[in-house]
Amino acid sequence: MKSLLSVDDAATAEEREVSGETLRIRGGRPLTGRVEVKGAKNLATKAMVAALLGETSSTLRDVPDISDVQVVRSLLEVHGVVVTDGDEPGSMVFDPSGAVSAHFEEIDAHAGASRIPILFCGPLLHLLGEALIPDLGGCRIGDRPINFHMDALRAFGAIVDKSYEGIRITAPDGLTGAKIELPYPSVGATEQVLLTAVKARGVTELRNAAIEPEIMDLIAVLQKMGAIISYEPNRVILIEGVDTLRGYDHRCIFDRNEAASWACAALATDGDIFVGGARQQEMLTFLNVFRKAGGWFDVREDGIQFRRDGALKPVVVETDVHPGFMTDWQQPLIVALTQAEGRSIVHETVYENRLGFTEALVQMGADIVVHPDGIASTDRRVPRRALEQAAVINGPTPLHGADVEVPDLRGGYSYVIAALAAEGESIVRNVGIIRRGYEKFFTKLAALGADFDVIG
Ligand code: EPU
Repeated sequence: MKSLLSVDDAATAEEREVSGETLRIRGGRPLTGRVEVKGAKNLATKAMVAALLGETSSTLRDVPDISDVQVVRSLLEVHGVVVTDGDEPGSMVFDPSGAVSAHFEEIDAHAGASRIPILFCGPLLHLLGEALIPDLGGCRIGDRPINFHMDALRAFGAIVDKSYEGIRITAPDGLTGAKIELPYPSVGATEQVLLTAVKARGVTELRNAAIEPEIMDLIAVLQKMGAIISYEPNRVILIEGVDTLRGYDHRCIFDRNEAASWACAALATDGDIFVGGARQQEMLTFLNVFRKAGGWFDVREDGIQFRRDGALKPVVVETDVHPGFMTDWQQPLIVALTQAEGRSIVHETVYENRLGFTEALVQMGADIVVHPDGIASTDRRVPRRALEQAAVINGPTPLHGADVEVPDLRGGYSYVIAALAAEGESIVRNVGIIRRGYEKFFTKLAALGADFDVIG
């Protein structure tokens, strides 16, 4: 076996981990062993933005070493926040005492790199009275509009202007609490409201809020800072604005998306993976589907072990907001479902273009048909949305190697897993995108016995 760990020079291995873009993978070998998951990408990056709201330094622990974190770190730095290492590995300290407006060129350098810059609006408006947001990036999984964010900011009294530079938002009269009802329980828009309302004058009532565990963890961060936030029944969040907030010391919630990804890798490759740091509570919905699909798991104090429990079985899944089955889980699951005995259906109801990645799986031998307008079916839990799609997966089909290009973060991870499950050799290009959300990806693959080379 030739894998990254067999590279003699550790510095070279590290370099490849941060710059490798193309993998040659020899499949047909189960992934077995142990991986550790750290803090959730979808909390850490938001908690970093929250540090801008404090009058003293904040410490964030278990921060994953991923490129989305680097983008947010750079954006904080161009706004004058001093970022240093904390007192333990994986911790970061943010000192916002010298925060300043950034120059357009500095902000623009981050254009297209991540979705997180939009969450700087509220904190920057409180701090400096204006915010400039570059073109937003993130995964190419549909239109990803920002209308909920802008409508919410306007409700607080902000003025939104589009200019050649991007979006300029100002609040000459400060920000005032508002009654806001989101058209959909958007994760990002809920975070936007939280990060803005905590220091707005008066009370904000947010209806139809997202209630993902990462949002609850962000609320915990803000409460540590001095915010007053209560979570009411039926997706209602009440925020009483306060004049000042202090820094926090917080350990990030674990990354349940990464944990679910490795669980699906065990299922797809017929392997056996212990995911250190994974917790049951935040993964209940995933674990039910995993079990129905023929997976076996054992919840332990320090993590969860995942493997197959005999032949894989077909399932019908609808993605949904929490506590439903997360949209981020469906791509790696679909790879495993290509090996299930029968017909599975995955309804994607959150994003309008998150099944495009299946084309490459078909190229590798999978039998998957995507219905662009979804398919009608009975017993649906989620009301049908205009933008939904459905994938029908007939299995089991042997997968064979192919030359594929990673389209987005979760799709990319799935291609690597499919290549590892397939017979023969695959080339997977553009794997850099996977580093947006998976820490030390090559090192973890190698530790699980994956047979691959970094060839570019
Ligand atoms: N939407 C709008 N207008 C808006 C905002 C959202 O129409 O202003 C729509 C979106 O187009 C989408 C739906 O609302 O159809 C849900 O989007 P949401 O705002 O909930 O997603 P997000 O905040 O942009 C976060 C995660 C995603 C994850 C989703 C759903 C981050 C940085 N991203 O995105 O994570 O899939 O919530 O849980 O937290 C990933 O990790 O790979 C990833 C894409």
